[in-house]
Amino acid sequence: MPEAINYKEALLDPIFNVLSDAAKNLNLESYVIGGFVRDFLLKRGTPKDIDIVAIGSGIALANEVSKLLPKKPKVSVFKNYGTAMLKTNKLEVEFVGARKESYAEDSRKPAVENGTMEDDQNRRDFTINALALSLNKENFGDLLDPFDGLQDLENKIIRTPLDPDITYSDDPLRMLRAIRFASQLHFSIEKESLNAIIRNNHRIKIISNERIVEELNKIILSEKPSVGFQLLHKTGLLPHILPELIALEGIDEKEGQRHKDNFWHTLEVVDNISLATDDLWLRWAALLHDIGKAPTKRFDNKLGWTFHGHEWVGSKMVFKLFKRLRLPLNEKMKFVQKLVYMSSRPIAISNEVSDSAVRRLVFDAGEAIESLMTLCEADITTKNAKKFKKYHHNFQKVRKKIVEVEERDHIRNFQPPISGEEIMQIFGLKPSREIGILKETIKEAILEGEIPNDYEAAKKLMFKKGMELGLNTTL
Ligand code: CTP
Repeated sequence: MPEAINYKEALLDPIFNVLSDAAKNLNLESYVIGGFVRDFLLKRGTPKDIDIVAIGSGIALANEVSKLLPKKPKVSVFKNYGTAMLKTNKLEVEFVGARKESYAEDSRKPAVENGTMEDDQNRRDFTINALALSLNKENFGDLLDPFDGLQDLENKIIRTPLDPDITYSDDPLRMLRAIRFASQLHFSIEKESLNAIIRNNHRIKIISNERIVEELNKIILSEKPSVGFQLLHKTGLLPHILPELIALEGIDEKEGQRHKDNFWHTLEVVDNISLATDDLWLRWAALLHDIGKAPTKRFDNKLGWTFHGHEWVGSKMVFKLFKRLRLPLNEKMKFVQKLVYMSSRPIAISNEVSDSAVRRLVFDAGEAIESLMTLCEADITTKNAKKFKKYHHNFQKVRKKIVEVEERDHIRNFQPPISGEEIMQIFGLKPSREIGILKETIKEAILEGEIPNDYEAAKKLMFKKGMELGLNTTL
C-alpha cells in the first residue's frame, strides 16, 4: 500500500462529520471500522453500509446522530446485541459499543463487557476487517491498524488478529467468511488460519443455515467460484454444507472403463458459466446440475457407467437441498429444478437438430430456454479440442434453430390457439377427459409440425379428432 494515503478521503460523506459531532456531544470516542475501511483501501465500489464502534454506548451514539440529522431517521435498536442501526439516503449505519468479547449470534452468551478500542479490534474476524479510522475531532481520519492489516491487504492475505483457534471458535461462521473473502477478493488464507479451519470444520454445524447460505451465495457470485469451492473442499467444510457435491467426487473403474470425476467437472462448469452470467440461480443450477449422478450411478456390462434418470433424481434433490439450507422454495427453486431436469436435453438433440425436437425443447423450457443453453455450453469441459469444437458448433446450430422456430411458431410462451372453454362450448361438454384429449392432440400436432400454431388449423384438427371421438357439435 503506498505511504501517502489520505484516509480523510474515505470520510467525505457528510455523515462522518455528523458522527464526529455526535460523539463529541456525548464525550465518547468513535471509529468507522471493518468492510467500509477495507473496501475504501481496495477501491471496491460504493459502500452501502458502515460500521461504527463507540467507546461507550453504540445505542446512545445512534440516537444522538439521528437527533443531529435533518431528517431525524428512525433508530432501530437491537437491545440483546447492544447494537443500533439507522439509514441515511445512501447508507445503512450500524452502531456497536466496543466490547471485550465478541458476541456470537448463535451462542447464548449473556451481554458482553464493555471494552476498549483495542479489545474490540482483537475480537474482529480478520486483520483486514479490523482496520479502523478515527472520527474523533483531535485525530479525525487517522488509521488504527494494530495487526498490520494494511500489510495483509497489500499481500492479499486473510489472517486473524488473534490465535485463529480463538477467532474461529468465537464465531465458526468466520471459517466460511475467510473462504468467501479469499474467493471474492482473490486473497489467500494464511497457513495457520487454514489449519485452524481444518481442525474446527465440524463446528460450522452450530451456525444457522441462513448465515451459511449468505456466505455461500457470495462464493457462488465471485468471479471464479471454484476458488472458494476448492477451499471448502480442502478444509473439509464442504461435506457439512453440501454433502451432495462431495458425493460426486472420485472416479470408479470397472473392466477398464472409467467415468469422469463429476465433482471437479462441476466446478469447471460453475467457472465456465460465471464467465457468461452473474445470475445467482443460474450459477446454482450449474453447481447442482449433476447431483443426481451419485445416487444413479450403475455399471452396465454392455453400456459401461450409466447415470440413468439422474436429471429427474437431481431435480428432486434440489428441492430437499433448498429446503435444508433454507433457500427460497419459490420460482427460483423451480427454475433451478427445471434446468437440472432439462440439463441433458439440448445435447441429446444437438447431433441432428430437427424442427420438432427444437419446438419441444422450447415448449418445455419456456422462459428458461436461454439459461438452459448457457448451462449446456458451460457443461462442455472436454479437453479434446476436436470434440470441444464439435459440441460448440452443434449448440450453435441448436441456437440458430431456436430463433427460426420461435419466429415462425411462437412456442416459448405457448398458449393453445384454441381455448379449452371454446372447445367445451363447441361440443357442449363440461370439463372432461375428451377436452384433455383434444387439447393434447392440438398441442402435439403443433409441436410435431403437422399443423401451424394458428387458430384455423387448430379448429380444423379439433373437428377431425372430435368426430373420431364420436362427439357432436352444438354448431
Ligand atoms: N465481523 C466479525 N465477525 C463476523 C462478522 C463480522 O468480526 N463473523 C466484523 C468484521 O470486522 C467486519 C464487520 O464486523 O468487517 C462487519 O461485518 P459485515 O458487515 O458482515 O461484513 P463486511 O466486512 O462489511 O463485508 P461485506 O460487506 O462484504 O459482507
